[in-house]
Amino acid sequence: MDIARNPAVPNENIQLADAPPEPKRPPLIRREDYQPFAWLVPQTAIDFTLGLESTRIAAKLSVERNPDADRAEDIRLNGDGLKPVSVARDGEPVDDWTMVGDDLIVKLPGDAHQLEIVTQIDPSANSQLMGLYASNGMLCTQCEAEGFRRITFFPDRPDVLSTYTVRMSGPKSQFPILLCNGNKVAQGEGADGTHWAEWHDPWPKPSYLFALVAGDLVANSDTFTTMSGREVELNVWVRGDDLARTDHALESLRKSMKWDEDVFGREYDLDLFNIVAVSDFNMGAMENKGLNVFNTKYVLADPDTATDADFDAIEGVIAHEYFHNWSGNRITCRDWFQLSLKEGFTVLRDQLFSQDMQGEAVKRIEDVRILRSAQFPEDSGPLAHPIRPDSFREISNFYTATVYNKGAEVIRMMRTMAGPERFRAGTDLYFDRHDGEAATCEDFISAMEEGAGLDLAQFRLWYSQAGTPKVEASLLHSGDTTLLTLTQAVPETPGQPDKKPMPIPLKIALFDRDTGEHGGEQLLILDQVQKGFNFKGFDKPPILSINRGFSAPVTIERSVRHEDLVFLAARDDDSFARYEAMQELVVSHIVAAAGDGLDDAARDAGRKAIGQALGAILTDESIDDLMRGELMMLPSQTYLMEQMLVADPGRLHTEREGLKAWLGMQLRDEFHALYERVEQVPYAGEGARGARKVKTQVLVYAAASDPEKASQLAAHQYAGADNMTDRQGALMVLAGLGTAARTDKLIDFYRRYKGNDLVIDKWFTLQAISLHPNAIEHVKALAEHPDFTMRNPNRVRSLYMAFAGNPHGFHLESGEGYRMIADVILALDPINAQTAARFVPALGRWRRIEPVRAALMRQELERIAAADNLSRDTFEQVTRSLG
Ligand code: TRP
Ligand code: ZN
Repeated sequence: MDIARNPAVPNENIQLADAPPEPKRPPLIRREDYQPFAWLVPQTAIDFTLGLESTRIAAKLSVERNPDADRAEDIRLNGDGLKPVSVARDGEPVDDWTMVGDDLIVKLPGDAHQLEIVTQIDPSANSQLMGLYASNGMLCTQCEAEGFRRITFFPDRPDVLSTYTVRMSGPKSQFPILLCNGNKVAQGEGADGTHWAEWHDPWPKPSYLFALVAGDLVANSDTFTTMSGREVELNVWVRGDDLARTDHALESLRKSMKWDEDVFGREYDLDLFNIVAVSDFNMGAMENKGLNVFNTKYVLADPDTATDADFDAIEGVIAHEYFHNWSGNRITCRDWFQLSLKEGFTVLRDQLFSQDMQGEAVKRIEDVRILRSAQFPEDSGPLAHPIRPDSFREISNFYTATVYNKGAEVIRMMRTMAGPERFRAGTDLYFDRHDGEAATCEDFISAMEEGAGLDLAQFRLWYSQAGTPKVEASLLHSGDTTLLTLTQAVPETPGQPDKKPMPIPLKIALFDRDTGEHGGEQLLILDQVQKGFNFKGFDKPPILSINRGFSAPVTIERSVRHEDLVFLAARDDDSFARYEAMQELVVSHIVAAAGDGLDDAARDAGRKAIGQALGAILTDESIDDLMRGELMMLPSQTYLMEQMLVADPGRLHTEREGLKAWLGMQLRDEFHALYERVEQVPYAGEGARGARKVKTQVLVYAAASDPEKASQLAAHQYAGADNMTDRQGALMVLAGLGTAARTDKLIDFYRRYKGNDLVIDKWFTLQAISLHPNAIEHVKALAEHPDFTMRNPNRVRSLYMAFAGNPHGFHLESGEGYRMIADVILALDPINAQTAARFVPALGRWRRIEPVRAALMRQELERIAAADNLSRDTFEQVTRSLG
């Protein structure tokens, strides 16, 4: 391709400079305005001349009229910060192109044309980490959602599918490895120490799935034989020093491939699957066809540097991205409003996989904890939106817990109602019917209705209505009959004042008070505002276990006696319900104490009930330590705040810590005995993960009740640790204490792991989330640390996202915590808008906080809103939050 030397560089055509300044408000894009694109792009050929500071991109698009769209006389190609170096049509340089905003418009008189466009970019100047950027001397891409337009002009929308052929060349010493989607079809040496490779991806894909990586990488390789007997080459590419920490990722990939065949009947469809780990990355990972790009955090692990939780997270994210090959790539989204079509479904798939790998009960509890701490607050705040949003200004702001995690819950409810076999028939039909298409949520629902035999007419409301439904449950007993009355209300959310009742599938069981048994679990569907259900055969009022397995993403409200919750916490045969009873016991107590307050007698009674339930959990030999660890965890402050209309974070914190201290004291012997037992379990011994989980939990209670003793124990655990889980757990507890061991071990940890970015991230985080009263001072000092940089998202998150989630630090009465996070947003916005905007929701919670703090939070939001040149990302989040 020689178009670069074409004389046609009519930069005067660029209206960008002369156009009036962009209106302050970026446009609102609406779901109902969807129109198919006027052109198809069956083939795309791109030639990259790679350089860290200058990369030249020559793209050749074959375009033809889309018979299903309105006729157009030109084509609008999206760009973002690009200038065309040259434009040619059907082999001839042309100058009849114009720019509208950042987009390139080229006249197309006929029905089929070839467009050749050359652009030139500086990857080393790309701090947004969208498009093509440099990271540690290598080049990589991130194109979802709208990053491809930062590389070349293109219809950068998910419903334009194209077959890509990519050639890339660059200095061999700098970029010995050249990777792209699909298969490598040719390679060779060029002049002056350059080399080149040509890649072809046979599967048509939208531009957001494009990926290119060039760098000095080494691979941990293996093969996988698919269900039909094809051999697939697997590679996990990392920097040389990291190779020893890639076995777990590779093994997770093999397990994912096998599981998707066994459980969903999905086979991989290329001869090669590459994963690349990158240390500068905006999110967790990206499912680019045949070339997944990962944040190093979700690839690298060994026992010395990664916790058990890190190992599990890697397994889950590898699975998630791999599963996208079918739920996302083979079937993609028609437009970005359909994001939950691929994300909600793929999260459900990775959750089911992890349940099978790691244990169903514990995994379910963890997933619900994430939903409640991240999604419930979103759903009850100013940023609430349906899992299929109706409008946005910046799509990056909609990669949310609602679209991902609530989206997964919604599909999980379909599975609960259909049962696993019929659900599988539904997904089979969906994959079969829409393979190769850009589909909609509606397509998924229809396939599920037909394939699984469900009537989802009313259920569709889960896609359009935001807000977490509240279900009130009351039991009325007379004679031998119990009447269960369920009442639902879907709360008002921004733009949605009136809600319709939705079908809510609730698994329940009624325990006989005398025998302690129940007569079987039942699935009730609450599909009206109110519904009554009769149950016969109880002499005494039974004990209700409701929303077992968390069958619906709702909050249950009921008045229930302490003793019933104590019973369920000790005896329920559904592990989730058991956990839930324990949570309910604690939540009702802390919320009452931090709200209207409790008199001494009520406080005493509440604490005793909790102590009794926790005591039973600590000594119960019928559960394993992994489950025990879950049951021992007190509800997070975020979740507690969520339970109050208006919360006082200071009082909640005091009450929560007070309860922890009381429990630590009261159950001191039980905790002690438990610690002594689990301490004996060797790293790879049976039940070792559970043992480690429980060990640190005991330290957490000890720190509240007996800080001196806890400090000794933690220092001892730290010193004797032969793995990161124990070491990090001990250091976390120490970081909250004011003892000499704190400084000592923090220094030791830093020295030990200096140079290992992922572990140094932990070091920043432990101090930012600590219970230490001076946490904010520590954060300020850490921001000045030579290892701190605003240019690496992992590092920014490790310090500031951690701090924004530290309730007693962030919610300091002085407002200093709010000011700090607002300053971060303003400083980060020009560097990395996507990451900056993710800090806004913390401040956006102001309506639910007591008035003095609320005013301070609002004030910071207003300060951000008043700043010049805000990104679209931050602008949208801040204005919605001020609402
Ligand atoms: N599709 C990715 C996933 O869920 C998400 C993702 C990765 C992303 N990087 C991004 C989304 C950058 C927006 C911007 O697996
Ligand atoms: Zn995803």
